[in-house]
Amino acid sequence: MLVIIRRDSRQVSEEAARIVAAAVRAKPTLVLGLATGSTPVGMYHELVRLHTEDGLDFAKVTTFNLDEYLGLAAEHEQSYHYYMNEHLFRHINIPPKNVHIPDGQVPGGYESYCESYERQIQAAGGIDLQVLGIGKNGHIGFNEPASSLASKTRVKTLTMETIADNRRLFKPEDTMPTCAITMGIGTILQARRLLLLASGKGKDRAVAKAVEGPITASATASALQIHPDATVVLDRAAASRLRNRTYYQRVLKMTAKLTPNRLW
Ligand code: PGA
Repeated sequence: MLVIIRRDSRQVSEEAARIVAAAVRAKPTLVLGLATGSTPVGMYHELVRLHTEDGLDFAKVTTFNLDEYLGLAAEHEQSYHYYMNEHLFRHINIPPKNVHIPDGQVPGGYESYCESYERQIQAAGGIDLQVLGIGKNGHIGFNEPASSLASKTRVKTLTMETIADNRRLFKPEDTMPTCAITMGIGTILQARRLLLLASGKGKDRAVAKAVEGPITASATASALQIHPDATVVLDRAAASRLRNRTYYQRVLKMTAKLTPNRLW
């Protein structure tokens, strides 16, 4: 795992956008896994800028989002469909047919729907680069504690902690969804490269568990430890509980010197 520590959330966003943009330039047909939440908003903003000002081309990129709330229509302002359109897709030149987000309104038949999402990922050649956030309870996607580390796309019941965390984004009169369709940990681990972002003090414990704790379904982000190519970009606040911060900085310098391609 490569741990990159930057000063603040703005620098985390810029670093993440730099990595994604380099991946798109290196492979214009990139299959890109995307995340939602407050953390990647700045990264999307920067990618839009790179598209508008530097001609970053998404015409051949295919995307797969991690998750969607069960029961929310694509037009609902809190749906991840809406989020992705607002923050990224309507500002760039990605063809709509290349965009995949789990359908929160699938009318039952969840198992076969989730299997078809997995098949679409396979048919696209698998995910080249998967962007991830991390929840306060250490989840990635909506893989809540005790999710199988081999899980595939399926419906998950949200913990009360996640519901409370995300409540702030909904209007007071809105009913908060209690389930989501999410890629599984097994799905995420199949991506060729992982990029996890975290900023702010509220994430420091989750980050410490993910990076330095035991591999456990109790904090599903810890599964990154068994992935061969995972990069974690943190701001100082999110990194503050890591014991080996100084070592990670030395590793980064050495990586830049010995294998600059690793940093793109
Ligand atoms: P956040 O969500 O970026 O809004 O903190 C991350 C997550 O819960 O995965």
